[in-house]
Amino acid sequence: MRVLLTGAAGFIGARVHRELADAGHEVVAVDMMLPAAHGVGARAPEHVRVLDVRDPDALDSVLRGVDVVCHQAAVVGAGVSAQDAPAYASHNDLGTAVLLAAMDRAGCRRLVLASSMVVYGEGRYRGVRPGAVEVGVRRRGDLEKGMYEHRDPDSDAVLSWAAVPENAPLRPRSLYAAAKVAQEHYAAAWAAVTDSGVTALRYHNVYGPDMPRDTPYSGVAAIFRSALESGKPPQVFEDGRQARDFVHVSDIAAANLAAVEYPHTGFLPLNIASGRPITIGAVATTLAAARGGPEPEITGRYRPGDVRHIVASPEQAQRILGFTAQVDPLDGLAEFAFAPLRAVAGAGAPLM
Ligand code: UD1
Repeated sequence: MRVLLTGAAGFIGARVHRELADAGHEVVAVDMMLPAAHGVGARAPEHVRVLDVRDPDALDSVLRGVDVVCHQAAVVGAGVSAQDAPAYASHNDLGTAVLLAAMDRAGCRRLVLASSMVVYGEGRYRGVRPGAVEVGVRRRGDLEKGMYEHRDPDSDAVLSWAAVPENAPLRPRSLYAAAKVAQEHYAAAWAAVTDSGVTALRYHNVYGPDMPRDTPYSGVAAIFRSALESGKPPQVFEDGRQARDFVHVSDIAAANLAAVEYPHTGFLPLNIASGRPITIGAVATTLAAARGGPEPEITGRYRPGDVRHIVASPEQAQRILGFTAQVDPLDGLAEFAFAPLRAVAGAGAPLM
């Protein structure tokens, strides 16, 4: 198939590119080489055309004969301040809207969208009684006292996490999450009005070789990895028992290939996770042990916007796409301890 791949020079996009090409697909690779992601003055790899997805004319010129669009281009990170809001809205949401309109002009009816588990906000919780318990934002006073877990509003008992299914409510908690929800909604509406198919892959915490070095917009794996490299202990927030699912970039690429090769109509959101949740403390310990120290520090500090646990159910992706992650996070993170990281020289906040 002929596949338009956006964000093709990025950490995830470059891996998806290889996966699609190795499977025999013809890839039209584009990337706008955003300084926040690639560093200031970075040049596009030879096989990648510089293109901004918000440019309708440029899109018209590359969409001819394209069967599927695999849309990875996005401003990432949770957002550092409210000043980042226009960049998320512009690149992620306007960009997706312009792309969807161009796909309609080109008669392209299939989209694979890079989404994120951040669309759920907090994960799913259960108490002693059957059924999920709704939780709100944790109170600052509780966090100050070291009470990190959500509690049952009736009994005050500590709640435990449960795997989040795709039909869970979407409750974005960051600017990035809000932008991802909007992308999904635009794509779902486009699928309905044009009788097209969208598969939204809700990535969990992605890591792997060529991940950008730590910036205020990086995920925790890159931050811990960069600290260890400069001989500093990873700083673990809260008590380190918060759970996440770390999925290797090679598995993300495999999930994208499966989604590109799965035709359907309508809107299909799928969690893409390893299925083997791990605590943040264990991530730090695994990375530190592989590098021979220094030992992580459990700081008790917290970020007010952070969710406590977010762990997905990977069952739908297995049932529908036949996708199962291959890399066990404990093995993948140990290997990641020495993997090369991408330099992002001079990368600042994302600009519109
Ligand atoms: C992260 C990404 C999000 C992405 C998602 C899925 C960021 C900021 N967040 O969400 O954009 O969509 O993964 O891939 O990029 N922590 C520490 N020490 C640190 C930094 C963080 O202990 O130095 C803890 C945090 O308190 C949190 C956990 O690590 O409990 C994960 O943090 P992080 O990777 O930033 O964010 P996620 O919410 O998992």
